Amino acid sequence: MTDPNESTPREAIAPYLAKTRWFGGKGRDFEVGEVRRVATLGDGDPWVDVLVVELRYADGDVEHYQVPLTLYTDPERRLDHAFLGWWEDAERGWVHAYDALHDREATRLWLLGFVAAREADSGAGGTAEVGGLTFHRLPGYDLDVEAVGSLFSGEQSNSSVLFGEDSILKLFRKVTPGANPDVTVHDVLTRAGSTHVAHLYGWVAAGEGADEVHLGMLQQFLRTATDGWDLALSSIRDLYADPEMAAREAGGDFSGEAGRLGEALREVHDTLRAELPVDTSSAPSPAAVAAAMNRRLDAALGVVEGLGAHAETLRSVYDALARLDHLEVQTVHGDLHLGQTLRTALGWKIVDFEGEPAKTLAERLEPDSPWRDVAGMLRSFDYAPHVVEQQQADWTQSDDESLDERRARGLEWAERNQRYFLAAYAGGDLSDEQDLLVHAYLADKAVYEAVYEARNRPDWVGIPLAGVARIGAR
Ligand SMILES: Nc1ncnc2c1ncn2[C@@H]1O[C@H](COP(=O)(O)OP(=O)(O)O)[C@@H](O)[C@H]1O
Ligand SMILES: [Mg+2]
Repeated sequence: MTDPNESTPREAIAPYLAKTRWFGGKGRDFEVGEVRRVATLGDGDPWVDVLVVELRYADGDVEHYQVPLTLYTDPERRLDHAFLGWWEDAERGWVHAYDALHDREATRLWLLGFVAAREADSGAGGTAEVGGLTFHRLPGYDLDVEAVGSLFSGEQSNSSVLFGEDSILKLFRKVTPGANPDVTVHDVLTRAGSTHVAHLYGWVAAGEGADEVHLGMLQQFLRTATDGWDLALSSIRDLYADPEMAAREAGGDFSGEAGRLGEALREVHDTLRAELPVDTSSAPSPAAVAAAMNRRLDAALGVVEGLGAHAETLRSVYDALARLDHLEVQTVHGDLHLGQTLRTALGWKIVDFEGEPAKTLAERLEPDSPWRDVAGMLRSFDYAPHVVEQQQADWTQSDDESLDERRARGLEWAERNQRYFLAAYAGGDLSDEQDLLVHAYLADKAVYEAVYEARNRPDWVGIPLAGVARIGAR
């Protein structure tokens, strides 16, 4: 009789992916293609197989996911929640397989790889080859070798493991050959001494030359960090708790934080511009960028009811952009919003430089306008009051305040923090050209959001539409 759990790695992967929070292909039809073992760490109890799994979607897309498995001869009850299946392995006999990131015995093997990379080069940083992986270290930090790994429980598209309070290992789930910008950008910012990112300690890769794939990175663990998005929402909850209060009076007034965040972004942009020169010879002209924005607007008009009323205004903003002589581009964050910021005792840090998840790696590596990042943050300030409103759906109108009045105070909160953020970023008043750039990128972002909301959360489409409506004609 066969055991109901008996399977093969290939059979076990699809049902497991469906259960994880990081798998981006949920709800799409796919089949598992090639399952490639790129590395093996450890020599039994456990073995860790680092798999790269090809997923072939019904619509023709192909993606590759990193799925490291920890394999034990006997069942490990403590890992039941991360169980994939059991099967007979040609080299090891019968094995029980679990998601390796849940297993501290397994994650320790990555930590030891990074430790080896340092020892190999007498403290100056270096590399170590272990089991098919190449571990790279930057100079200047002694890892806590005894730190125990635990899986980070936050909402993520990748998977992170905390090593005590010492370091944090992020393993990329969706992987593509070539350098991951999260690694390269953190590398540059760390070596330049930026105080606004978690320092990079090292990274891990497999393959060589054109086949090299970045699989993960090890960073400074920010002990005192609070998520910027959570902080913003609690500031708004404070504001809403008292109908008499205006945004500037609220105990949780956020404007000081918004300003410091603007300074942090400016410093990060300045450092990237200075340290990571980009090839601007193929940079798009303002007219080409405006044309792309117009195309996205055209496509959105077919999807979002209510956008048409603003189309003319948006086109006049894009036309003004097209008339600029020149557009500065550089390496940027690419997917910036409050959820990618952490406030620590030592100021704001910006995380996750992987770029917009929906874009291809080649697109994410293109230099872009820094105003795209600025617009991302400004839109995030705009969303925050609406999200609190949704979370407090049981709020009933009181004699003191109607919903419209409360929304007006929420908008005041958003506009106040946008103003402080922007002024700090620009170091004062914006020039006419800067003002135009902000509005063009804001419009483009809000159009993108409107399409997303129309498709996924139709009740929310009013949020970006209201943002679009506030954009003035040029
Ligand atoms: N260096 C760090 N120290 C402490 N917490 C961190 C650190 N880096 C990230 N985090 C936390 O992990 C979350 C996810 O990190 P992120 O890099 O955005 O991963 P993902 O690529 O999966 O989105 C962040 O929102 C933050 O809460
Ligand atoms: Mg993130």
